[in-house]
Amino acid sequence: MNRSLLLAAGLAAAGALGLTGYLSAYPGGTPSSVTNAAPYCARCHSSTSAEQLREMPAAAQASQTPEKKHYPGILKGEESYGKLSEADRGKLVDAIKAVDKNSTVTLTLSSTTVKPGAAMTVTVKTHGGGGPVVGVMLTDNDYRNQSGPIQTEGFVITKAPEVTGMDGKAQTKWTDARAAGLPKGINYVNIYDVHSDPVAGTYADCKVEYSLKAPTAPGEYTVSAAFLYGTEKSTPLGTVQTPDGRKFPLGGGGAESGRIQFAKMVTITVK
Ligand code: HEC
Repeated sequence: MNRSLLLAAGLAAAGALGLTGYLSAYPGGTPSSVTNAAPYCARCHSSTSAEQLREMPAAAQASQTPEKKHYPGILKGEESYGKLSEADRGKLVDAIKAVDKNSTVTLTLSSTTVKPGAAMTVTVKTHGGGGPVVGVMLTDNDYRNQSGPIQTEGFVITKAPEVTGMDGKAQTKWTDARAAGLPKGINYVNIYDVHSDPVAGTYADCKVEYSLKAPTAPGEYTVSAAFLYGTEKSTPLGTVQTPDGRKFPLGGGGAESGRIQFAKMVTITVK
């Protein structure tokens, strides 16, 4: 769907939900969907590399990168970006490019060879992301449109993912929001109170540790992690304050300012 259609759909939704309902749907992660998730859900987001779309034709791959999907609309002053002067639009793109350059995600495994059904841990570290929220998903591979939760391969996430925020403190806000009685071992987390500042050159560091049980069937399995983040709210130029004081990206909730990035895929041998 193109931006105008999304905006139209968004406005229709705003009518149905009330403006606040629409504004809280995206971005800000998915505060009301506390469950397993896969990166394909974030269709508005841009892909930080064409590699994650390698099954698609070259033109379709390129169309999802920020160079094609996000920066040009800002530079041309499309829709709400037209509120900024040309000079400020240039500054906004520079700030967003700095966030992109400094946003990374890595994966560390307690072991890459494990016995069937053995306990193991996977640690995902994120650097950057605009904030105030970033998202992490533990996935079975690194294809944007063909990865799923790691459990689909037979891994079990045995307890709530342990989140460490940018202040170095443990955070349980996300998994605390799971309904009473549901297991908390899910592959997706929102990390809160994150803030990167491309002007000051400071970028958030966060961590998620997953406790897993390996599949019972011997074989080779792959694992990756998706890092979902926003870019515009990292800078005042890209931020709009809502009437009730929340921050919203200048491009709006249907814009392309979100990102999907994957950690380098790792192979695990179960034997
Ligand atoms: C309608 C378009 C759209 C869809 C669909 C969408 N997002 Fe986003 N998302 C955005 C925008 C726009 C931002 C970027 C905000 C910015 O640039 O600061 C964002 C940002 C985010 C962030 C960072 C939060 C923040 O504070 O900026 C997370 C986490 C996220 N999205 C997760 C998801 C997940 C998970 C899904 C699928 C369930 C999803 N998004 C689907 C538009 C979308």
